Amino acid sequence: DQSLRALAADHGLYVGTAIDVGALSDPTYSQIAASQFSTVTAENAMKWETIEPERGVYNWAPAEQFMAFAKAHDQKVRGHVLVWQNQLPAWLTEGVADGSISKAELRGILHDYITAVVTHFQGRIWQWDVVNEAVTDPWDSPDGHITYKGFWYENLGAGYIADAFRWARAADRQALLTYNDYNIDAFGDGGPLDKTQFVYDMVKDLRAQGVPIDVVGSQAHLSTRYGNYSPFQIADAQQKFASLGVATALTEVDVRNLMPAEQTGDTMNPLLQAQAYDYSALMQGCLASRHCISYTVWGFDDGHSWTNTWDFGAGAGAEAMATLYTADYQPKLAYRAIQADLAFT
Ligand code: G3I
Repeated sequence: DQSLRALAADHGLYVGTAIDVGALSDPTYSQIAASQFSTVTAENAMKWETIEPERGVYNWAPAEQFMAFAKAHDQKVRGHVLVWQNQLPAWLTEGVADGSISKAELRGILHDYITAVVTHFQGRIWQWDVVNEAVTDPWDSPDGHITYKGFWYENLGAGYIADAFRWARAADRQALLTYNDYNIDAFGDGGPLDKTQFVYDMVKDLRAQGVPIDVVGSQAHLSTRYGNYSPFQIADAQQKFASLGVATALTEVDVRNLMPAEQTGDTMNPLLQAQAYDYSALMQGCLASRHCISYTVWGFDDGHSWTNTWDFGAGAGAEAMATLYTADYQPKLAYRAIQADLAFT
């Protein structure tokens, strides 16, 4: 069995994908999702706007459809996501904006939501993404340093992060609790604009206070447009985070190409080669670190990828084709590269 999941099992590693619940009715999509991956993450079905679209009205059906798929195929589940500034329900953001939800009430709402969701799925989640994308990037830090950002920080202050982890742990003692972010795949110069360093210091401080953070998740949304990380840089970051006593995970891997890159038969295509290199560097870095527990791609086929509609600066969908398979489900060079990493290392 040369599937990614079988090969990864020999390393004690879980290899995963985000799942678009709406795509599960496509038999080829389902067949690949089931056979290649040993862990799954709901791409959207477990976000707050979906789970609690109206205040106090819970909608578990899409998430449960996803959970049933995972169970049927013996896949571990990464719960995504409890606390994030995006895809919040309108009743919540509008209530805060118009003052009908006070800040004190907001903290209670967050507590109750985390408790309700973690309790609902208790015993069925391997890793929870508890707090997602809580800090700025260099380009949105006009005062020259990385800091906290977003709806929760603006309304509750940075203390919500420790609260969220404690509330999650209280509702599920077994699930691994993750801080998840992008652009933390490698360390920079250690200075005030080094986001990886900021997250490292934050996790160190939180753990020193006894906050139950078990995993640092590096999303690894990469693009061949901005150069490459070497396996060494990835392994180094995984090891440094692990030195804090946490496990690490690569949680949302994809590697975009400026279009057009879709000459899939052409094994010499430099864009596809560069993409394969990035996927491989992440896999080799993960394998080199004994603390990296999962390697999850954010969608496995170019037909179902958020990059198809997102504007990364070159226009919507102009920087895409970011996954392991073509839109007609042919494995790309990137697939062969990580398969080889798993088979030969
Ligand atoms: O469900 C509605 C549908 O009813 C409507 O007709 C349609 C029209 O726009 O929109 C649909 O919602 C879209 C949703 O995905 C479900 O497909 C939203 O517009 C779209 O913005 C949303 O994008 C998701 C994005 O998060 C938004 O926050 C992507 O699918 C999802 O891949 C992406 O995932 C995030 C991770 O959660 C966190 N890390 C970054 C990653 C990539 O942005």
